[in-house]
Amino acid sequence: MTDRKRVFSGIQPTGNIHLGNYMGALRNWVKLQDEYDAIYCVVDLHAITVPYDPSELAQSRLATAKALLAIGVDPSRSLLYYQSQVPQHAELAWLLGVDTPLGALNRMTQFKEKSEKAGQKLGLYAYPVLMAADILVHRAHAVPVGNDQTQHLELARDIAVRFNGKFGETFPVPEQITPRVGARVMSLQDPTAKMSKSDPDDSSRILVFDEPDTIVKKLKRAVTDSGSEVAYDPVNKPGISNLLEILSLFTDRSIDDLVNEHNAMQYGRFKQLVADAVVEGLTRIRTNYKTLEDGEVGRLMTKGALDARMRAEEQMVEVRRLVGLGSGTIS
Ligand code: TYM
Repeated sequence: MTDRKRVFSGIQPTGNIHLGNYMGALRNWVKLQDEYDAIYCVVDLHAITVPYDPSELAQSRLATAKALLAIGVDPSRSLLYYQSQVPQHAELAWLLGVDTPLGALNRMTQFKEKSEKAGQKLGLYAYPVLMAADILVHRAHAVPVGNDQTQHLELARDIAVRFNGKFGETFPVPEQITPRVGARVMSLQDPTAKMSKSDPDDSSRILVFDEPDTIVKKLKRAVTDSGSEVAYDPVNKPGISNLLEILSLFTDRSIDDLVNEHNAMQYGRFKQLVADAVVEGLTRIRTNYKTLEDGEVGRLMTKGALDARMRAEEQMVEVRRLVGLGSGTIS
């Protein structure tokens, strides 16, 4: 194990990866690989907390793994695996869950939202504890995520602090890493709601693998605001502000710069400009994806899981000892 700080993050294998995932989290995953000991996970155990089709899950796990590789997660610099192949995640979730107050779980807004559709199930309720276990099983110092995960991450921090208080300093209290621009990418159809994979309206989101003409169409149809000025004002002009954030990220230019340059541009032309930048930015990812071969990706994921198991087991030996379950190794 290296002595660099560790970063951990996960993504659910449901649906297709969209611009929110990319801008809020995945770009950082790629960037942080150089600076940190990076551990990334396709969190398939989280995905089954809502109704799903088992045969589709097998497909979407693989598609998500391939997408991560295409985006730039590099197995020679970071660990990448499927959560379900590393049973220590679920084991630690149990050990942490036994001492997690229901009051804390009752406050989780994602549980409230999701359980309205999926029903009140234990898996959905315990979801944030499993998420804490994901992070803590690797004793991660930092977690790159979008803003929608802030509440879950706060709970993970509380869980770490509670464990450390009871059993002695064991887990680093993980810091959240969010990007300056793109921490909360908004829906193209309702810029007051976040872009999300569960929105029934396809045109609310751009997928990383959308065809160029689909991207152009979706952006042209994006809801903008009254007035005609290209200005950054997320409260009064959420639609244009969202597009400015997207453009800023894909052109690597500051929002101020972009506003100065395009202030008087008509909305239609501005949307085309954004579309061109997004299409160009995503081309490399689409091209990379095509070069990835399913069998090879499968082998990479198996190797990742074996490495991750060894690393997680090292932590679990210590955790089991601390909580009074011996070393957990049967002799
Ligand atoms: P998930 O799969 O919903 O999303 C993956 C990542 O994408 C970010 N994201 C966004 N960022 C900006 N704007 C948006 N509109 C947007 N939509 C999604 C999410 O914040 C996330 O970083 N619970 C997590 C998965 C998870 C996890 C973990 C993350 C499980 N265990 C441990 C970190 C650490 C989730 O459902 O993400």
